[in-house]
Amino acid sequence: MDFELNQDQREIQSLTREFARAEIEPNAAAWDREHRFPRELFAKLAELGLMGTCVPEEYGGAGADFLSYVLVLEELSRADAGVGVTVAVHTSAVTLPLLTYGTDEQKARFVPPLARGEQLGAFALTEAEAGSDAGAIRTKAEPTGDGWTITGAKQWITNGRFAGTYLLFARTDDHTAGARGISAFVLDGDDVRVTRDEEKLGLNSSVTSDIVVEGVHVGRDRLLHEENRGFRVAMTTLDGGRIGIAAQALGIAQAAYEVAREYALQRRAFGHRIGDFQAIQHKLADMSTEIDAARLLVYRAAWLKEQGRRHTEEGAKAKLFASEMARRQTAEAIQVLGGYGYTKEFPVERYYRDAKITEIYEGTSEIQRLVIARSILGLTERSLTVRS
Ligand code: CAA
Repeated sequence: MDFELNQDQREIQSLTREFARAEIEPNAAAWDREHRFPRELFAKLAELGLMGTCVPEEYGGAGADFLSYVLVLEELSRADAGVGVTVAVHTSAVTLPLLTYGTDEQKARFVPPLARGEQLGAFALTEAEAGSDAGAIRTKAEPTGDGWTITGAKQWITNGRFAGTYLLFARTDDHTAGARGISAFVLDGDDVRVTRDEEKLGLNSSVTSDIVVEGVHVGRDRLLHEENRGFRVAMTTLDGGRIGIAAQALGIAQAAYEVAREYALQRRAFGHRIGDFQAIQHKLADMSTEIDAARLLVYRAAWLKEQGRRHTEEGAKAKLFASEMARRQTAEAIQVLGGYGYTKEFPVERYYRDAKITEIYEGTSEIQRLVIARSILGLTERSLTVRS
């Protein structure tokens, strides 16, 4: 076993950390307060190659490995989790499935503008009545001429307002209920109309939109992977995406821990630094231990993915543990800071609000447990969900 990051990974980690400290951290509170999506930041990230960290150089990326990409998400999220999710969805949920499932022509056409950050990507799966039950989507792609006409509405689409490329899932076979009969399509910004932006508890520097597609005709060149096999595209995409969200949770928890630790060494009560009291020491010890445990799960899952090995269960475990840990430990960070922690004077209340979503998107904790249970019990997929 080797627990050391290699030279390239360390360089990408410190490059991202320095950039995040200079360009993101000082602005994060204002972006949160103003609900501002920092559009201009992504051009700067692109200049550093961070909009396509693990995309091969021939497709305009930085050519680094998947663990390097996970380190980038951790560092970005440590500074601002909204920036973290923007990059995570853009990369894991759009650029990487295009690379995995695209034809040579599709890869050459769609990937470079994403990897170079000229366009943002959005993953359009979820609908009002199809969240955890992703197989229940109703957006339709009806055969017309040499292609399809797509009609439907999608909800909670990260990057929805600013994306130039959408990976959108629609039902191509109406006679088959559930996951079968769904196909994946690549749409342009012009194909989509944004109907509203969501007001959220946190993650205010990211944008989450409802979108509609109103009778848009697409040719066969827009079908990603085989017709009616799009659910597999969605599931394998989420297998990798969940590792990214786990890294985001890890970054948020790390940031909260650092503030709590620093505060415990400064703040005095009863004639001592509060860090001299066992009550506070135990909180910090638990935080540090749980963050380490999450990091090991996240890096292991990233390593498995990089090796081309199965990572469905390990990615789900990483996301489950890291997200619940981040929610618990950001709450503990507030507790260490007491009244100050509850105010906007310190960033921990933002970390707490931001951490919560990591237990929900890219599969709730309940869905992660379902995925893990199916894997460890050797159950076939549908045997744990009940359909009427
Ligand atoms: N890899 C490959 N194939 C898979 C797979 C995987 N991990 N999981 C399932 N499949 C395949 C199955 O083998 C099956 O294939 P066949 O039809 O050929 O038999 C097919 O997919 C259907 O699988 P299931 O029977 O497991 O389907 P299900 O309806 O029971 O649902 C589920 C499974 C795990 C609950 C799935 O619906 C799910 O993951 N739900 C959560 C949805 C989710 O995570 N949404 C996130 C939205 S994106 C987002 O949040 C982005 C953001 O903003 C940050």
